[in-house]
Amino acid sequence: MDTVVSGIRSTGNLHLGNYFGMVRNAVKMQHENKCYFFIADYHSLTTHPDTTDLHSNIRQVMAEYLACGIDPDTATLFIQSDVPEVCELYLLLNMNAYVGELERTASFKEKVRKQPDNINAGLLTYPVLMAADIIIHRANKVPVGKDQEQHLEMTRKFARRFNTMYKVDYFPEPDAYNFGDKLIKIPGLDGSGKMGKSEGNGIFLADDPKTIRKKVMRAVTDTGPEKPNQEPTEPVRNLFTLMDVMSEPSTVDYFREKHASCEIRYGDMKKQLAEDIVTFTNPIRERINEILADREYMAKVVREGAEKARESAGKTIKEVREIIGYKHF
Ligand code: TRP
Repeated sequence: MDTVVSGIRSTGNLHLGNYFGMVRNAVKMQHENKCYFFIADYHSLTTHPDTTDLHSNIRQVMAEYLACGIDPDTATLFIQSDVPEVCELYLLLNMNAYVGELERTASFKEKVRKQPDNINAGLLTYPVLMAADIIIHRANKVPVGKDQEQHLEMTRKFARRFNTMYKVDYFPEPDAYNFGDKLIKIPGLDGSGKMGKSEGNGIFLADDPKTIRKKVMRAVTDTGPEKPNQEPTEPVRNLFTLMDVMSEPSTVDYFREKHASCEIRYGDMKKQLAEDIVTFTNPIRERINEILADREYMAKVVREGAEKARESAGKTIKEVREIIGYKHF
């Protein structure tokens, strides 16, 4: 049986990109693997120093995980900050992580550009904490979106380095994972780039139908294909990518043919896409609200998840201390 770990930062509601990159895979994997899914609330502090919404965001993501079908009796579902053992592994891994390699990480460089007034050390060592999250359960599979590929590469590097430094074969080298063959990138509605929480280009699982319709109808397109069988431009390709995951194959084929023959009406395509998204998110949104209202249930899930996660993490920390050479008196 493989061990699976994945997490999402608690910086806002989950969107379709989170769902298809991580949550859907998590739900499928939970029955055949030993799974640990969590809310990366330490990581969220690297970009969200204002903690006014921290707790409500954590609650929201927890309810969303549950609403999407992560079963806390099957998988271990927990909050990162409930498992302080991860901080110890993070510290130990930091001793063998080099500033140069951390400075070269794409996500770090992007954050330096985006938040020049808050280039904190947590941002620099983000990949080390992420590696600790993963290898503390000695995972070998990590369901994530394409944007996390480099972080996974670094995780493997830190795991390998630990094994080499201390002459052990202790940590497995985990791989990014997606059902289907390749990692998924869900585009935003603004014509370019991936869907993000803060880019204003996303559709959230918790959005109501009216909001979803409005967002989809406003999505960027182009002025229409100019000649038959033309490759769609990026904004239109992005709409097709969304349709690929949200709609029936026959629906996608229909609009592809209309595009190829230059008869496409983007308005019709968007209406269809919006309805397919609403059909998909409606039951999830209702479940999110039910779960949020059940405080006792959520408290129980969180408490039991923390217990299970700490048991696994504690065992690793104990062994890691021994491997490194911390001895009993
Ligand atoms: N970096 C991930 C993201 O932004 C979140 C994350 C933190 C994560 N720790 C992890 C994902 C461990 C998988 C495994 O989405």
